[in-house]
Amino acid sequence: MRQFNEDTLTDAVIARLKDVKNPRFKKLMTSAVKHLHAFARDVELTEEEWFEGIRFLTAVGQKCDDKRQEFILLSDILGLSMMVVALNHKTARGATEATVLGPFFAHGAKEYGYGADLREGCTVKGEDVYVTGRVLGVDGKTIPNAALDIWQAKADGIYDLQTDGEFELRGRVKANAKGEYAFASYKPKFYSIPVDGPVGELVRATGNHHMRPAHMHAIVSAPGYQQVITHVFVEGDPYLDGDAVFAVKDSLVGKYKKVNDAALAKKLGMPNPFLKLAWDFRLSSEKKGVKARKKIAASDAVA
Ligand code: BEZ
Ligand code: FE
Repeated sequence: MRQFNEDTLTDAVIARLKDVKNPRFKKLMTSAVKHLHAFARDVELTEEEWFEGIRFLTAVGQKCDDKRQEFILLSDILGLSMMVVALNHKTARGATEATVLGPFFAHGAKEYGYGADLREGCTVKGEDVYVTGRVLGVDGKTIPNAALDIWQAKADGIYDLQTDGEFELRGRVKANAKGEYAFASYKPKFYSIPVDGPVGELVRATGNHHMRPAHMHAIVSAPGYQQVITHVFVEGDPYLDGDAVFAVKDSLVGKYKKVNDAALAKKLGMPNPFLKLAWDFRLSSEKKGVKARKKIAASDAVA
């Protein structure tokens, strides 16, 4: 057959996949063709609209470089990133929930021990906070020597990677043999996703805002346990119900409490009273886990 119309074209394209050897690739391609054609039929896509879509995707590609991944940002604001997290990371009961990685993780951050000061070298001062907690298994037993990769935006809502500066408010914090970790930082603030590119254009066209509720990022890893890529959000943040990338989970909202402890404040170089966040991470064991996310290792490329 050589002549196709809107009713026969989809099957014809799918038929061309008949000799594809890899069954997973065949399934992905078949479904992609089916859904793309169904979309075009559903909206009766015009040639102008098709070309506008091509222009948009071209601009998204052109905005990407080794520091900026506009396609991931597009996936984030369309909820696709969180859909993939939901499908692939069904955490064991009681384990810390996973959420979106985002574009600002970087390898090679400084390693710290218990009591790290992530404020060192930070060019934008914020509200001091002391973050403490434990890394536990879902059975409640502490896990010794876990690693916590921590990163967050500065108080002006900008990540260190968005400027040409050094790493700031970022570090690989090792928990101690008792499974406890602690570090000083600044309280995170809500911020805008990068909107100076085509994704920003798209968000503005929908009339939605482009803000993310305040959060710190954490990747918690320990041998024998599933690594978790997660956030800790800030209770009371005005954007918790409207996160631009749909990444909020109720179980990930933390309370930043005012603490009056002059001796500790002095030791930490903080004004008294200061803020404290007490937060435990709970990891599922590797064996019992359903499906693990690919682990982020020191050798991986920047996301
Ligand atoms: C972030 O949390 O860093 C982030 C996540 C998705 C899009 C933009 C930023
Ligand atoms: Fe973030």
